[in-house]
Formats: sequence, structure tokens, C-alpha cells
Amino acid sequence: MQNSQSQGVSVRRISVASNPIIAFWQTVVGKKIVMAVTGLVLIGFVIGHVAGNLKIFIGPEAINAYSRFLREVGQPELEYEQVLWIVRSVLLACVALHVTAAVQLSKLSLGARPVDYKEKKNLATNMSAMTMRIGGLFLFGYIVFHVLHLTLGKVGYDPGEFHHLSVYQNVVNAFHHQPIAIFYIIAMGALFLHLDHGIWSMLQTLGFSNRKNQATLKGIGRLIAFLIFAGFISVPVAVMTGVIH
Ligand code: HEM
Repeated sequence: MQNSQSQGVSVRRISVASNPIIAFWQTVVGKKIVMAVTGLVLIGFVIGHVAGNLKIFIGPEAINAYSRFLREVGQPELEYEQVLWIVRSVLLACVALHVTAAVQLSKLSLGARPVDYKEKKNLATNMSAMTMRIGGLFLFGYIVFHVLHLTLGKVGYDPGEFHHLSVYQNVVNAFHHQPIAIFYIIAMGALFLHLDHGIWSMLQTLGFSNRKNQATLKGIGRLIAFLIFAGFISVPVAVMTGVIH
């Protein structure tokens, strides 16, 4: 997009890319669809992850075997961790696209919005948009910490507490540090808020909602977000209360 001035008149030229994918990305609808589709992939990951985590309640063997399986799946045809790296790459690409689209849409809406904060509906929309942005940023920071913590053992442990592939013991040792367990529970609260609005927003963008089913879809989104929240926090809560030790 370019601005030029001729005889005191401001003219805005819009350059449309010839590549259809870039042209699609340059539209507001395109960015919203990218957010919705990448969001859907990330929700799929989160549901798989929470289901995997719950294996901890079966016992150390179940969750440690699951962690080994994630690395060995596809062998001997594929290399060790090859599938895992493909999944990691897809997730990284989704996070990058999701965040980029969110930042660009925020800029566009902040630039285009007429200042009308008196209207109640506008205020509610602004609040949820703000919650999504701040919450999204917090979750991004959480994920960076989380990978350094439970996957790599680089932060949050006393020396010698973390052992590669001993997921059960790593999780128990991790949440014996109470501030860390509380931080995880707060982060899962942020995830709940993000998904509560995000799932609904995604369904709207993908064209699933109409006047009749709005309330039902909002309820379904909230239920999914709550089940994910409950599943995730059950692990630190179980360690803190001694159910898992
Ligand atoms: C209380 C909540 C959570 C617990 C107890 C937990 C537990 C774990 C554990 C034990 C691992 C390491 C698995 C392994 O090395 O085999 C892991 C990895 C990971 N978790 Fe979580 N997780 C939680 C929440 C989340 C959330 C909410 C997200 C994303 C929004 C997330 C994203 C990831 C990612 C990206 C990895 C790295 C996977 C990899 O590349 O190896 N986790 N988590």
C-alpha cells in the first residue's frame, strides 16, 4: 500500500499481488481464515497433548512409554524423532502464522476503528479483543518457558532433577516447586480464556454459526475450553495434593 499527494489530495494506491496465495493473505478475510485454520490445528494439538498427559494417572510406565512412542513412531522406515520433527515444524509454522495474522489484524482494526467507546457492544468487543491479544502474548511466553522446562529441563529444576525421557519423574519433580505449579495453573486459566473466545471466533470465521445456533456453539466452545483446562490442571494439582508422587 502506498500514499501519494497530488494537488493537496491524498491518494491511496493498493497494490494487489499477482500470486493468489499472497493476494488472499493481504485481505482481512484471508488473515482471519488463516487464524481460524491454524487455531484449529493448534487446538487439535492441545487436545492430543492433554489426552497424552492424562496417562500419568495410569502410572510411570504408561506415560514414559508414550513419550518414547512419540519419538520412535515410524521406525524403522523413518529415522528416530522424524515424525516428531515434522509435527514440531507444522506446529511452529501454525504458531508463526497465527501470531503474524493476529498482529496484522490488530494493527488494521486499531487503525480503522472510529473512536466510539460509548457504545456498549463496541466496549465488549474491545475487551475480548484485548483479552485475546494480551492472553495470546502471555501464552506465547508460557510455551517458550514450558519447552525449556519440561522438554529440555533447562529451567525450573534443581541440578540433577531432570532426566531425558523420564517424563513421570520430571513432571512430579517439576510441580514439587510450588511457584511453578501455580504458574502452570494460572497459564491454563489464560489458555481457557483464549480458547473460550477463540473456538467461538473460529467457528464464526469458518461459517458454522448462524443466529439460531450461536448460543449452542458458544456453549460448546466454552465446554471444550473447560475440559482442556480441567485436564491440564489435574496434573499439577495431583502432584501438589500428593495424588501423584
Ligand atoms: C499442566 C499443563 C501441561 C503439562 C503438565 C505438560 C506436560 C508436558 C510434558 C511432560 C512435555 C514433554 C513431553 C516429552 O518430552 O515427551 C511437554 C511438551 C510440550 N508441551 Fe506441554 N504440558 C502442559 C501444557 C501445555 C500447553 C497448554 C501447551 C500448548 C499450548 C503445551 C505445549 C507443549 C509443547 C509444544 C511441547 C514440546 C513438544 C516437543 O516438541 O517435544 N503444553 N508438555
